[in-house]
Amino acid sequence: MDFDKIEKFVAKEYGINLSAYKSKQLIRRIENFMQRVGAKNEIEFINILSMDKNISKKFLDHLTINVSEFFRNKDLFLDLERKIKEHLNPEKNTLKIWSAACSIGAEPYTLAIILDKITPNKKHNILATDIDQTVLEQAKQGIYNKNEVKNVDDDLLKKYFIQVQDKYQIIDEIKKRVIFKKHDLIMDSYETGFDLIVCRNVVIYFTQETKNEIYRKFYTSLKPGGLLFVGATESIYNYRELGFEKASTFIYRKPGGN
Ligand SMILES: C[S@@+](CC[C@H](N)C(=O)[O-])C[C@H]1O[C@@H](n2cnc3c(N)ncnc32)[C@H](O)[C@@H]1O
Repeated sequence: MDFDKIEKFVAKEYGINLSAYKSKQLIRRIENFMQRVGAKNEIEFINILSMDKNISKKFLDHLTINVSEFFRNKDLFLDLERKIKEHLNPEKNTLKIWSAACSIGAEPYTLAIILDKITPNKKHNILATDIDQTVLEQAKQGIYNKNEVKNVDDDLLKKYFIQVQDKYQIIDEIKKRVIFKKHDLIMDSYETGFDLIVCRNVVIYFTQETKNEIYRKFYTSLKPGGLLFVGATESIYNYRELGFEKASTFIYRKPGGN
């Protein structure tokens, strides 16, 4: 594949520097996408992207799908911290948490850091899943670049990361709090008994029908009183129909519990 041509086009069209992403996975992703839109080569592909704004937008989404960072939308994680204290009694209960579509692990490790902050002597269970084995391997490594930790407060950065040259490695103490597993939100069955499910920045790629199906399964997977935390553009307009209450703009609660 002539990656250079696509790289130049993407830089010009979307302002994204693909050389920062250059990896087998990205090439595989682009090839998959090219196949889907029926492009036989790079020139044909670039023509399609130039002519069809809708496909062009989808391609951009496709490219950024693995992007993640610690404390993504920081204010919302601060809100989550308050809601965990308010609703889940983490001092008393050992919480079972699921970070669904966790990508490179920044999200489940953020949860582990928050819980360590509020209950330093307690070990909660965090399951982190993704459909993509490559990102799961990266997540298990727990090594991040500056951009991915840019929202981490300095004191937390010092406490929970080891800086190795220009990279940031999550400390073992936090790493071992998270179990990573491959899981497809569409095809696989869901575990149950969760106090908190975090699913952010993935359902935007799914149809409304699939979204509803996933939210229904999350509802079943949550304990009564459990919380569902979604992405900053993903408020669930039909949350009542699905059985949830609103705990805040991006946090929903399954009624019941204490
Ligand atoms: C943009 S990332 C979101 C990462 C993290 N949740 C966040 O908000 O920063 C989307 C992730 O969803 C994963 N994904 C896509 N389709 C999926 C599916 N059907 N089941 C599980 N994960 C999926 C991708 O592999 C990718 O890692």
